[in-house]
Amino acid sequence: MRVLVIGGGAREHAICKAVVESGGELYSFMKNANPGIKRLARDYMLHDERDAEKVLEYALNKKIELAIIGPEAPEEAGVTNTLQEGGVMVASPTKEAAEIETNKEFMRKLMEKYIIKGSVKCRVFTDVNEAKEFIEMLGGDVAVKPLGLTGGKGVKVAGDHFNRVEEAVEYAKEIIEKGIGGYKKVLIEEKVVGEEFTLQAFCDGSTIYPMPAVQDHKRLLPDDKGPNTGGMGSYSHKSGLLPFMTADDYEEAATILQKIIEALKKEGRKYKGVIYGQFMLTADGPKVIEINARFGDPEAMNVLPILETNFIDICLAMVEEKLSRIKIRFANKSTVCKYVVPKGYGIKPEAGKEIKVDEKAIKENGGLLFYASVNEENGKIYTTTSRSLAVVGIADEIDEAEQICERCLRYVEWDIFIRHDVGKRELIEKRIKHMEMIRG
Ligand code: AMP
Ligand code: GLY
Repeated sequence: MRVLVIGGGAREHAICKAVVESGGELYSFMKNANPGIKRLARDYMLHDERDAEKVLEYALNKKIELAIIGPEAPEEAGVTNTLQEGGVMVASPTKEAAEIETNKEFMRKLMEKYIIKGSVKCRVFTDVNEAKEFIEMLGGDVAVKPLGLTGGKGVKVAGDHFNRVEEAVEYAKEIIEKGIGGYKKVLIEEKVVGEEFTLQAFCDGSTIYPMPAVQDHKRLLPDDKGPNTGGMGSYSHKSGLLPFMTADDYEEAATILQKIIEALKKEGRKYKGVIYGQFMLTADGPKVIEINARFGDPEAMNVLPILETNFIDICLAMVEEKLSRIKIRFANKSTVCKYVVPKGYGIKPEAGKEIKVDEKAIKENGGLLFYASVNEENGKIYTTTSRSLAVVGIADEIDEAEQICERCLRYVEWDIFIRHDVGKRELIEKRIKHMEMIRG
């Protein structure tokens, strides 16, 4: 089958690998030349991924049968809709269904309307004085958010990014006035406390199949310090749960995703593709922090390499609304993924620096390598201002997977930064203790 993957990051490299390993003939449409994808693909086009007409033109030209969209921006731009109108099957949501990610007000109102458990106290404002009253009512313990897409960097949270009500109000004002995230509105949410986790699921419009839970690390520096990033690394456990999570917590999160899918269907926005729930596990169960209309990055790299079912079959089952008819299996393995980013990433990244990657040694040491935002020139790899590449270790236990990952990371050198604490026992134990404390 001729499959087109849209997007050129490490998540898309993992999707492309799954497509090729499932027997697909791979084509790629990406804005940057991802060296890993380039090597896997029969053909590729370098262009703005949000240009729906260009994507369709390329897909028709290459006689593409199935398309998969990695990032959210092309979904928001209606690439799924345009491809479908052109007769191409797409295993990703339409623009209307993807609004669950691209408009946080829509997500919160949908949960409210259908009385879906797991939401938080929140309100949307266009008037900063009204926002101020609400922030004060919550005692300043809030998250201040733009409604639309900001590449994961637009949210500010009390205690992390500000300490006083005035600072929260100031940021709310800035979001409204500048229209950050594409809307002249701000979302104020109560701050919830707990441990964060990601639950991704395949969906066919009516049913979902949840994947192993993953924990991402959004903060730049060890011990969860520094600014928020796109994600510095992530891990999963062979049980499908996380070390601080019970089977009931997992089920509750899966039920929330299932209810969201049902609500979207009732709203005439049938959701087909991978859905991503970012949850905070609190004393009161999982609370929704955000819903994304795609695989997570890095979380795709934790789940796709251990998927034992043919990935293209799953994509077709999502499109054809037959998910309940196929058997989906993941290997009972733990995974650890660490991102390599340019020095200064998240603050003042050093682009254009060469990084040395010994692909052969990484393979020999049992790791998987996924390229992200790098340039390849004459066989050499150069950084951009975004994340460069990710290395994944897979083993029975998280400890072993972490060690494989670290062993492989020795073969990536020069002006780079890595959050080495991701997947380390010390940090995981801290998370378990934190959750025990929260649960009393
Ligand atoms: P987001 O861009 O929505 O993923 O938010 C970035 C980070 O802010 C999340 O990973 C959380 O750690 C934090 N955050 C967002 N919303 C809340 C909330 N309501 N309560 C506590 N933390 C939050
Ligand atoms: N890992 C965060 C995201 O994909 O949005």
